[in-house]
Amino acid sequence: MKTNNFDFDVRDLKLANEGEKRIDWAERFMPVLGLVRKRFQKEKPLQGARISCCLHVTSETANLMRALKAGGASVRLCASNPLSTQDEVAAALVKNSGIPVFAVKGENRKSYYQHIEQAIAFKPQITTDDGADLVSTLHKKSGSFIKEVVGGTEETTTGVIRLRSMERNSVLRYPIIAVNDSQTKFMFDNRYGTGQSTIDGILRATNILFAGATVVVCGYGWCGRGLATRARGMGATVIVTEVNPIRALEARMDGYLVMPLLEAAPIGDLFITVTGNINVIDRHHILRMKDGAIICNSGHFDVEINTRALKHISKGKRELRPSCVEYTLINGRRVILLAEGRLVNLAAAEGHPAMVMDLSFANQALAVEYIWKNQGRLEPRVYKLPEEIDREIAQLKLRSMGIKIDRLTREQSNYLSSWQEGT
Ligand SMILES: NC(=O)c1ccc[n+]([C@@H]2O[C@H](COP(=O)([O-])OP(=O)(O)OC[C@H]3O[C@@H](n4cnc5c(N)ncnc54)[C@H](O)[C@@H]3O)[C@@H](O)[C@H]2O)c1
Repeated sequence: MKTNNFDFDVRDLKLANEGEKRIDWAERFMPVLGLVRKRFQKEKPLQGARISCCLHVTSETANLMRALKAGGASVRLCASNPLSTQDEVAAALVKNSGIPVFAVKGENRKSYYQHIEQAIAFKPQITTDDGADLVSTLHKKSGSFIKEVVGGTEETTTGVIRLRSMERNSVLRYPIIAVNDSQTKFMFDNRYGTGQSTIDGILRATNILFAGATVVVCGYGWCGRGLATRARGMGATVIVTEVNPIRALEARMDGYLVMPLLEAAPIGDLFITVTGNINVIDRHHILRMKDGAIICNSGHFDVEINTRALKHISKGKRELRPSCVEYTLINGRRVILLAEGRLVNLAAAEGHPAMVMDLSFANQALAVEYIWKNQGRLEPRVYKLPEEIDREIAQLKLRSMGIKIDRLTREQSNYLSSWQEGT
């Protein structure tokens, strides 16, 4: 499709008004990104930059796109997941902000990758990715123009893992800022954002009661911790499964039951994966689950539940509600899969609240600025955003919440940096 002389692919431009309202609503809860946008508007630090973004196309992302554009950049956006696009937001970005978007909720794999290629055809100098599909496709298919890419940013744990693997294998061709590794990102977005929005997705898909349920959380990383806390807060008994002994010990001392998934399988009412790993819930686990067990995933890719095995051991399936499909297993029991095993918080709900995406996307905007300013000075490696920027974001967020904190006195500062004083 074409409008205003640029290509795009969204569901329906008539949805734009609805999308605009959603974007404005999110903006109210994104004061830090708002401040960045105001400064960008004035200083134009991204003047002339071509940026391709592969992110969940949500109202919060729309605010990031507007901030980058305000900074003087030309931006293009495609989806980082086939099910997470908010079609009305995509339409509003095209129609009202003049930003080319290539994303349609429910698109198939072929169209998902075609859209990524359309983002690459823009010949970006900066990439902004969530899961590293854009970067990996660009590395495989871009040809010689990759030399012109100045750098990129990465939003999530799984993407950072893939990019570090590219760095280790010496195939990464340009520097990446791992936005996920900022403290103001993973401690808030992964923990509180995923914790709340995953439960939101499960509730919208099922309307089950958490109080009295046994909830099995697979993976006790930043997302798992948030999820376990929220599930317990709603009255569930929480079981944690882990492969890392330190995290397993932490979960036990945080008050959760810890056991192998095979032992938890017949006990759990609801299973949620947040590991970033493959086939965590597999055939042998599913066959041990009780009748009516619900399984879902909030890790980045739809590989955490072995859905192929689930289909293989099922003799029938039916859709009960949107995002909610019941499989009848060969043993006669029924297991319910939410959102096809894709990120349940984005596929069945709206993803993280804007209040938390404010932190993540302030990080994204400042990381893009950092890369543009430091072009030519960074190696093709995975970097963290400097600590001062991380702290500045926290400071601005506190200020926006009306919270003041103490400052170190000179005496305290000296004490903390000295070794002479003891007992
Ligand atoms: N849904 C969202 O909106 C959202 C938001 C942020 C991150 N994520 C994604 O969620 C996933 C987890 O992110 P994180 O930041 O919590 O990562 P993390 O690295 O902090 O935690 C992952 C945990 O899973 C454990 N694990 C690995 N394999 C396991 C297995 N087979 N069984 C049980 N535990 C296992 C690891 O030991 C680790 O403790 C990633 O894919 C990330 O990209 C999703």
